[in-house]
Amino acid sequence: MTILGIETSCDETAVALIEGNENRVTLKANMLATSLALHAKTGGIIPEQAAREQIKYILPVLKNALETTGIDTLETIDAIAVTYGPGLIGSLLVGVETAKTLAFVFNKPIIPVNHMVGHVYANFISENKKPVIQFPLLALVVSGGHTDLLLMKNHGDFQLLGGTRDDAAGEAFDKIGRMLGLSYPAGPEIERLAKEGDPKRFRFPRPLLHENTYEFSFSGLKTAVLREVTNLHTNRSKLDLQTIKDLARATQDAIIEVIIKKTLKAAKEHTIKSILLSGGVAANQALREQFEINASKQAVTIFAPTKNLCTDNAAMIASAAYFNFHPIPWKGITTDPELYFE
Ligand code: KG4
Ligand code: ZN
Repeated sequence: MTILGIETSCDETAVALIEGNENRVTLKANMLATSLALHAKTGGIIPEQAAREQIKYILPVLKNALETTGIDTLETIDAIAVTYGPGLIGSLLVGVETAKTLAFVFNKPIIPVNHMVGHVYANFISENKKPVIQFPLLALVVSGGHTDLLLMKNHGDFQLLGGTRDDAAGEAFDKIGRMLGLSYPAGPEIERLAKEGDPKRFRFPRPLLHENTYEFSFSGLKTAVLREVTNLHTNRSKLDLQTIKDLARATQDAIIEVIIKKTLKAAKEHTIKSILLSGGVAANQALREQFEINASKQAVTIFAPTKNLCTDNAAMIASAAYFNFHPIPWKGITTDPELYFE
């Protein structure tokens, strides 16, 4: 079964083609254009501008994806999967309308996919990985907009154990990065700087770490960093590079520790064997390594997509569509997108 995936929920215009067979999804094409450089200039995304960029890129990216696979018509594909939300409405509309038009012209079923579910399914894209993912599992989605810990008993069966009460993990990286004078998105830059940071110079709070909840909160961390930065600014006119590295390290350590400890606690409580990491923050190497180290103590396997599949892409959307469309019959191809979670 060949599925065309389309993802335009934010500042990436992405189109992918995947081949699904039994329990395997393989990538045929995974194309992407991004307007990130534009948003770096303004320090964040201006939705109107992101939507205009989507309009500019969608057809060239689609053409590119088809050319890569040598497919010159959509007659032969089986379905079209598209992100319906959550995301920026102007951006989403570009992908949804493109998918609807293609579905109409080529008479193909359309599969609406929740963006967060898509992130989770990046883990199911085959890389000949062993061992195999086992249900029930925990799915952790850590992105710019979400920090969600989900219990998944089967394909499409999600139970939200906890989300964030305020800022998402990626948002915390981005906002703290801004305080440190870094450009948007700051996560990758904080990771790079943290490598040379002193882990002992600063220590920031680990919000909700010891409370009996799987919810997260990162706004207190943001305030603590701001206080430290303000304090340092009054002593010196500008933060020196080593101080920025030390602050980056302390920020990253705090975020990672909370995420890992809460996830592993939930894994123990629900007798979980597989944990799937996903979302842009899952590209963070320190997070991936720390997860591996800590998980080895409790016999749970950590899965994480290749780094380019952690951030937004259309392959994950097509993958989610495949596993929820086949072999388990999907419960209403053109109807109720709320069938997934939100
Ligand atoms: O999943 P994603 O591409 O888009 C959303 O759906 O939000 O995630 C983007 C987020 C940004 O906040 C970015 O700073 C963060 O992921 N991010 C990282 C890293 N790479 C991206 N955070 C920490 N370390 C990274 N290496
Ligand atoms: Zn995303």
